Parts: sequence; structure tokens; C-alpha cells
Amino acid sequence: MKAKANKVLIVGASGFLGRALMRLPDVGLERVPTVRHAIPDLRGSLRLDLTNSEEVMAVVGRSKPAWVVNAAAETSVDRCEADPSRTRRVHVDGTTNLVRACEEAGAGLITISTNYVFDGEAGPYGGGDETNPLNVYGQTKLEAESVVLQASCQGVVVRAAVLYGYHQGSRPNFVTWSYSSLRDGKPIRVVTDECTNPTHVDELARFLLGLCHSDFAGTIHFAGLDYLSRYQMVERICDVCRLDFSLVTPVVSAALGQFARRPLQAGLRIDKLNTMFAPKLRSFEDHLRDLSEKMQS
Ligand SMILES: NC(=O)c1ccc[n+]([C@@H]2O[C@H](COP(=O)([O-])OP(=O)(O)OC[C@H]3O[C@@H](n4cnc5c(N)ncnc54)[C@H](OP(=O)(O)O)[C@@H]3O)[C@@H](O)[C@H]2O)c1
Repeated sequence: MKAKANKVLIVGASGFLGRALMRLPDVGLERVPTVRHAIPDLRGSLRLDLTNSEEVMAVVGRSKPAWVVNAAAETSVDRCEADPSRTRRVHVDGTTNLVRACEEAGAGLITISTNYVFDGEAGPYGGGDETNPLNVYGQTKLEAESVVLQASCQGVVVRAAVLYGYHQGSRPNFVTWSYSSLRDGKPIRVVTDECTNPTHVDELARFLLGLCHSDFAGTIHFAGLDYLSRYQMVERICDVCRLDFSLVTPVVSAALGQFARRPLQAGLRIDKLNTMFAPKLRSFEDHLRDLSEKMQS
């Protein structure tokens, strides 16, 4: 049986991005969710653990998708640092399993990578800039990129920066954590020296699904319009959502004593997006207005 032209397998459908990929309306694609553990609210999902090569081959082979979108990862940067071999199994071996299955099934593979492939000395970075990851998360994501780019199937790597957005039941992210803490009157410490472009999860999801209608192969950066420090993000949250900015203490990232090193100036340049189809991006402040309404209702 041939691959079905509009069928897309979403790997990691239970995650923040995975759920956004499943939820978007009007995308003209049949989306099949796959999950590592059974999730009652994701009906019709198939069980798939990336690290199980036979399972990956069987699920992709049986489903015959035109595309596989890999939104699965170990996203706790400190947990990755603490357990490099487990992280490598998910990111590198897991991606290798997907590549083999896609090659066998004649499917294209889109995988999500990160601005953490850069060292943050001189960002924001363009797609052709030199990579130099500072931590296990970034290093293993970079190795996964190279597995996809060397594949004989159509391979796409989309690098994104810190994801945010809100839907009922979605896991907290930096923006929703800051918003909820301040709304509840809790003081927070926020770094002033880590800058990036916050990426709205729905905009990224729409871009990824749009790629399934294109013949693009290679690496592309997708991130939000605004390049901000974490502290500036929280300042804007306070402005737009009328929250008390005096609850926020500025700190430098070294003072947080995080286990894994983070790149500091690690935004992504997105000028290449103008040369291809992409959803019209809205500003961080525009998204915050929506987010604050949703979180109040
Ligand atoms: N979050 C960010 O700020 C950010 C920034 C830049 C790039 N990215 C990239 O964007 C992608 C999506 O991130 P996210 O924030 O949506 O992640 P997330 O919410 O942490 O979700 C990760 C997903 O991966 C699944 N997963 C982990 N190990 C797996 C395995 N062995 N087999 C199958 N599934 C597995 C998880 O399943 P369970 O539910 O079973 O755990 C979960 O569905 C990732 O590639 C990440 O590196 C994220």
C-alpha cells in the first residue's frame, strides 16, 4: 500500500507542541497521534516509544504516512545533563529509528530542534551559523539534526526557541509560570542575561504542518518576532496583563546555580522564513493579550 498523501504521524502527541499539532483546525491533513504512554483524551492514538526500533518500524510501516513530525524529546535541560546516555537514546537513537522507518516507508521526516545547538556568545543566529552546544540537551539535539539531514528520505530540521502559549490543561511554560506566579502575588527571580525569541506554540505548529504541503528539505529557523531577555519578557507580561512588576527580582543566570549551562544570547534569526510560506507572525504582546484572557476564563 502506498503512503497516503495527506496523512501525518505526530510523534510525541502528548507534549506541549504535540498537542498544539493535534489541536490546530483547518490544516487539510489527517493527523495520527502517537504517544509513549496511553493518554485517554488523545483518541485514536498509537503507542510508540522512540527508543524501541522495532515498534517504530512497525508503527510507521503500518500507518503509511506521507510525513512523520517528531515533537518528542527529553526537554528538561538539567535532566538531560544528569543522564547523558538516556538523553542520547531518546534524541539520537530515537531519531535514527525514525529515519530508518521513514526511509523504508517512503515518508518525509520533520524534526524539531533548538537554539541550544548554539553557544549563545553572538546570537541571534542564522541557519548557517556555526553550532557549539554547551550542554547535553543541545549536543544530542545537534547529533539528531545530522541524522535527519543525512537521511535518504525528505528530511527537515526546524529549530525553535523557548515555546510558550496556553490551552486548558497544557503544561506550564516560562510565560504561563511567570503569569500565574505574579497573578497569585508570588515573588519570582528572573534572569536578565538570557535572551531569545519566545516562540508561540500554535504558530510553530502551523508552520510545521504547512511544511507537510511543501518540498522543502534542510534546516530552517522558526521563532517569534521579538528578541527579549527573560526579564524583558516578564516586564511585558506585567505591562499587558497589569501585574505587579515589583514582585520580580532581576538576577544573572549564574546566580541560579542551574545544573546545565545555558546559552545566553541564543535567539534565532528568522529572515529566511520570508523566502518561503510561513504563517503571519504576531508580536509577543499580541499573544500575551490572548493568553491573559484565556487564563482568566
Ligand atoms: N519547550 C521549549 O521551550 C522548546 C524550545 C525549543 C525547542 N523545543 C523542541 O520542541 C519539541 C517539543 O517540545 P515540547 O516542549 O512540546 O516537549 P514536551 O512538552 O516536554 O513533550 C515531549 C514529548 O516527548 C515525548 N517523549 C519523550 N520521550 C519519548 C520516547 N522515548 N518515545 C516517545 N515519546 C517520547 C513525551 O511523552 P510523555 O508524555 O510520555 O513524556 C512528550 O509527549 C522538542 O523537540 C523540543 O526539543 C522545545
